[in-house]
Order: sequence, then structure tokens, then C-alpha cells
Amino acid sequence: MADKAVDVVIIGSGIAGLMTAHLLADDLNVMIITKSNVAQSNSSLAQGGMAAAIDPLDSWSSHYADTLEAGHHHHHFDHLELLVKRAPLIVKKLEELGVEFDRDQYGRLKLGMEGAHSHRRIVHAEGDQTGRAITAALIRQVQHRVQLLEQTMVQNLLLTDAGVGGVETDRGVVRAKATILATGGAGQLFTHTSNVPEATGDGLALAYRAGARLIDMEFVQFHPTLLVRAGQTYGLISEAVRGEGAFLVNQNGERLMAWHPLKDLAPRDVVSRSIEQALHRGEQIFLDCRVIENFAQCFPGLIKRCQQAKIDQNQPLLPVAPGAHFMSGGIETNANGQTSLPGLYAIGEVACTGVHGANRLASNSLLEGLVFAEQVATYLREVPLFDGREAQLVEEGPPLVSGCPPTKTAIQANMTAYVGMNRDEYGLQEMKRWLEPYMMGALYPGGSTSREELERKNMVLVAWMITEAALLRKESRGGHYRSDYPAKDEEGWDGATVAISQTDGI
Ligand code: SIN
Repeated sequence: MADKAVDVVIIGSGIAGLMTAHLLADDLNVMIITKSNVAQSNSSLAQGGMAAAIDPLDSWSSHYADTLEAGHHHHHFDHLELLVKRAPLIVKKLEELGVEFDRDQYGRLKLGMEGAHSHRRIVHAEGDQTGRAITAALIRQVQHRVQLLEQTMVQNLLLTDAGVGGVETDRGVVRAKATILATGGAGQLFTHTSNVPEATGDGLALAYRAGARLIDMEFVQFHPTLLVRAGQTYGLISEAVRGEGAFLVNQNGERLMAWHPLKDLAPRDVVSRSIEQALHRGEQIFLDCRVIENFAQCFPGLIKRCQQAKIDQNQPLLPVAPGAHFMSGGIETNANGQTSLPGLYAIGEVACTGVHGANRLASNSLLEGLVFAEQVATYLREVPLFDGREAQLVEEGPPLVSGCPPTKTAIQANMTAYVGMNRDEYGLQEMKRWLEPYMMGALYPGGSTSREELERKNMVLVAWMITEAALLRKESRGGHYRSDYPAKDEEGWDGATVAISQTDGI
């Protein structure tokens, strides 16, 4: 591919990237780059839906309060207010773009219930296939209006004397006035995950290498209910299933969450930890779905995965285990998606806008992607863009280091053992020691021979960032649990977040 120049280059084709492209395509020359195909993303797997205070008896302030409570009050309060206030308008906008949310026999939007919500407020489409329906509608909007570069891996951000001025890919250079990371999360760092195979933390690694600030990296959310049979993961069982009355039991039929005031709809971090502890005690945990009428009709996606796992769908007692689901931290941004580097923007899961705190509330992630896509698009349409395309490239390139990264399986096993749901000083230091020999190759991956090798180097770098952040936070909060500091540090904690940037020398 010959080198190219565009106004805006977006890396990643989840809903945040697609929505931004849709909103800018009439005014600017936009390119989307994705390392697989445009329809493959974590967004497209999202089942539960999107939270929005639509019911007349509901309110944005109640949505706000529930998000704060689930995320342990570790939020950017203004960004959160923006998120919950925009939610009903985003639902309308998606309907105008052709998304058909599920409705009841009177034509009213069906509003579902999920963990830690105090009101029914989750809209969904095609039952449990909401992400796929929204993604498909957005792809229809953009496919003939933007340049799509599929099967293309970004290797580096282009650093110029004026900031980030595009990307270097394995197929050539793309110069751009604005570079937007929308690459999603890093669930592949752990053995069990709900994420797509592509979720190897590439955007987080690219930003870190370029010197951007990342925050809250220790807050990794584990979803309580992955369908796991004989050690193999068959995707996620949406919280909406518990929202319709399913509950967790052990092999003796004893209810697991009976102790909690919200029972099976307690916040995710609480339910995940309860399951993890029960599995550790040698129990088996199942989701008992037999109370749900029209199970197959409500959850067609889940039925397909039960068939793949050879589980009898007429007796839905589903074996579950927690798995890595969502990075609550990421590249720090302001309300316009701007990062600490000029010319570089981040949206969706790769970004940390501060709306999720220490533990994301169910069905707030598609919403975040769409609200902040609007924000960044509005900003880019209104400000004169600095022309990174003409800026001088920073001359002294990083050294080429060809060091071989560990296998994916080894990274996953060690992250799960030492930096998973249960952390302590000893395990985190062990992980750091294990990662250290691979760090030069991960920081300077120019000598990588394949895309797969580069992905593993990205995983090493993200693993290191999570480990380092988890070591620094000496308390337990939301998605970060330390058995050596099991309580929240209410007194000493002043709201500061653990930030990491290569330029700080950490
Ligand atoms: C779920 O359906 O449980 C996942 C949706 C989300 O992560 O918010």
C-alpha cells in the first residue's frame, strides 16, 4: 500500500469507532483501520444492551447514583452526569439509524433489569444480540462513506514535532490530522474471557509507547457468568438472564447469593468474587434458568452457545465461572476524547473517561462508546485541526529490539494466577519479575516478525501496566482486590488515581 493521508484515522471498528466515523464522514476524509474485519469487535458480542433512564418513573439521577454505587465512587462526576443525561437521546438516535430495539405488545420499549440497577432501564435488540444489531446498523451507515482498511495491524503511532500525526501499519504509513484509538479492551490477557480473540490491548500499548497517560489500569472487571464447561469458555451469559429471575446455585442446589441484599443482582465485583471463592472451595456453580418462561425466545444467542457446549437447553442449569470482561481504566481523556498527547484521541473501552469508577455498572459500556463518540466528533468538526500530515517526524527512532515475547498461554496463565481476581504483594512482584526480561522487546517492538508476535508484545506491556498499578494501590476496591489489603482505604484514599506514563519513567 502506498502511504496515505486523511483527515481522521480511527483504529478499531467497535461501535465507538463506527459512530465517530458516521458523524464525521460528511465533513472530513475518514479512514477506519481494523486488524481483522469490520464486523468483528467486543461491541458486536455485547448482549445485555444499553442502559438509559427512559421509564417515566426512572431518572438520570437514579442512573447516576447506581453507577456511582457500583463503581465505588471512584468516578469523574461531570463525565458521568453527561453520560447518563445523554442516554435516552442516544437510544432515539440509534432508532433513527435503523436499530430496532425490542418492544412489548403495546409498542413500548422493553426495559430489562441487570445487576446493581435500581430500575428496569436496559434496552436491547434481537433479544440478547444488541451489540450485533447496533454494529450492523452503523456499518450500513459508514461502509460507502469512509475508507475501510481491514486485516491491517497498526505497529506504531507516528510521532511528529506537533504531536501524533497518524499511524504506521504493516501495510504502510497513514498520515492524519487526528488519530483516534478505539481498539477496545484486553480480555485476552486472562485465561477465561468474554472478549473477542482480537482484544489484546493493542491501543493501550500503542498509547503507552508514545508517552500518553493511562489511569486506573488496576481495575479489571471480571464478569460473573461465563458459560464454562470442561475448562472451555463458550462466551458470556448476560446479566439480563439473572435480571429475568435466574439464580446461582452450587451442586447441592444451595443459593450462592442469598446473603446479599440484592441477591443475584448484586454488583458484578461482588458476585464474581463469591463465585470465585466457591470454586476455590471445590464447589461447582450453576446458573439455574428454569424459572424463565420463553427462555429460548428471550436469549437466542445463549441457546446457540449451549448447543455448542452440548448442554441440554430444555434443562438450563448452566455451569458458570467468572472471566475477564472489561477494562475500567485506560488512556486518560477529557470530555472531548483528547488524551495527554496533541493529535491523539481515545474513545470506548480503550479510554478512561472516569465514568465507570472502579467497577463498571452493567450496560453502561455501549453507552459510553456512543456518547463519547458524539463528543469527539463534535469537537473535531468545530476546532481547526492541527495538520499532523505536514509536521516533521520525530527523527530519532526507537531502537529495534527483536526479543522474543512469551507465549499467549503463559501470559494468560500467569496473569490469571497473580494479577486476576485475587492479588497480593508477593504474586504481583513475582509477575513483575517474570515480565521484566520481555520488557525491552515490548517497549521497542520494531524488530517483530509477525502480527501475532506484536500482539504478544502488546500483551506483555499491558500486563506490566496492570501489575504495576495493582502494586501501587494498597487497598481493595471494585475490580481490584488485594488479599493483603482486603478493605477499602476510606481514610487514606483521596480520590487520586494511579497513573502510568512512559514519560514519567515508570
Ligand atoms: C451482560 O449482558 O451481562 C454484559 C453487558 C455488559 O457488560 O454491560
